[in-house]
Amino acid sequence: EKPGRLIVISNRIPTDEVPAGGLVYAIHEALNDIGGLWIGAGTPSDEAQEGLTEVKSEAYDKATFSLSRTEYDRYYLGYSNSVLWPLFHHRADLLSVYERDFEAYREVNRRVARAVAEIARPDDMIWIQDYHFLMLAREMRDLGLKNRIGLFLHIPFPNASDILALPQGPQIANWLAAHDLVGLQTQRDVAAARETLRRDPDCEAMGNGNWLFRGREFAVLSFPIGIDAEEFARKAAESPVPELQLSPDAPLLLGVDRLDYSKGLVHRFRGFGAYLEQRSQHGTRPTFLQIAPVSREDVSAYQDIREELERAAGSINGAYADLDWTPIRYVRRHVARERLAALFRRANVALVTPLADGMNLVAKEFVAAQNPDDPGVLILSHFAGAAEQMQAALMVNPFDHGNFAHAIDRALHMSLAERQDRHASLRENVFKQDIAWWTRTYLNRLSRVPAYQEDRP
Ligand code: G6P
Repeated sequence: EKPGRLIVISNRIPTDEVPAGGLVYAIHEALNDIGGLWIGAGTPSDEAQEGLTEVKSEAYDKATFSLSRTEYDRYYLGYSNSVLWPLFHHRADLLSVYERDFEAYREVNRRVARAVAEIARPDDMIWIQDYHFLMLAREMRDLGLKNRIGLFLHIPFPNASDILALPQGPQIANWLAAHDLVGLQTQRDVAAARETLRRDPDCEAMGNGNWLFRGREFAVLSFPIGIDAEEFARKAAESPVPELQLSPDAPLLLGVDRLDYSKGLVHRFRGFGAYLEQRSQHGTRPTFLQIAPVSREDVSAYQDIREELERAAGSINGAYADLDWTPIRYVRRHVARERLAALFRRANVALVTPLADGMNLVAKEFVAAQNPDDPGVLILSHFAGAAEQMQAALMVNPFDHGNFAHAIDRALHMSLAERQDRHASLRENVFKQDIAWWTRTYLNRLSRVPAYQEDRP
């Protein structure tokens, strides 16, 4: 008998346009390896259609589901990115809650459930990605699908107290329990999920990450996502470094993020400002290059951060720049992946200092790109999911400018021996727990769950 296919569902799938975010790269690498069908959102149109549209692709099959423009506004910009995203990143203050946005979210989840139910064979494994589809599995079960269904949440799991701000909060346990396996990035996320599940009267903890919900079992475990480290290291070593107009020995600090309030960019600029403030006038003159392509521009919180960041860069440069030195360079333009990889290799320090982040693959890319003989220093925030695996980085509290300034100073003066030690330890993890490890570990676990048991009536 032929083994079942793997069906992956995520909102975003790679297109010829600029790809964005860690999810798309990671799943692309995973599917390149093992094949399968990847389903994602098509370009919004006047009216949404049922079913799927095939898209030409190579190593794996691709198909899109359709969205109306109104659904794009309400399901994607609205419920996904103005409710779930801020809430899951501990920013309940940024929530804008509208009933119609949730209705569109539910409608899209239902339509995708119907489309998948049309094509899925009983032995296909279904792997749902991220917060755009939290109720998709529940909808699939309601349609009678008995397949193995997994979810992987790429962003942090919210605190139980924040979930109180979500009108649909009381349903979260029911949504999660429709999967066989819920994968989270970190142990911290698993602990947060445990808090929420414990509060649900229908949920019973069975230990080892297993739960019982109305008589049916499911598991909640952490699977820290990785990168294709070999491939990225190769790219970094082979691609030419873009012309930076810097003297070859000028220290370069680098940040690469989607322009998002969760990334702590304003705090980072201020932290760098604090470093400039206390550094000795005769010391080296480092340049901090921040690449931050805009994202989700139609959500107002993203417009606000963009303005705030421009102000912060302007005022720091105003205070410290000289005729031949611009301390902060801020690039909003998209930079191609090869050029990024080469920049990561050239950088002496990477600043990966989010206020909240599921994993943050930039931290791993920087480590993979560095030359092990003369490696740069990773400055990493406690609040990145990557912090659990990457304690050999220089850890910072991005809210504390003094701590930030001190870390930059330490990074720029660190001895070769200490840099090598720290890098070797980081590198080992980045290469071992890479994207192939992640995919294998997750799918092994999902394929081992016992055949479907009905919910108790
Ligand atoms: C994060 C999310 C992904 C998302 C990506 C880019 O990594 O976890 O689900 O695809 O950001 O965001 P966008 O809204 O542009 O898809």
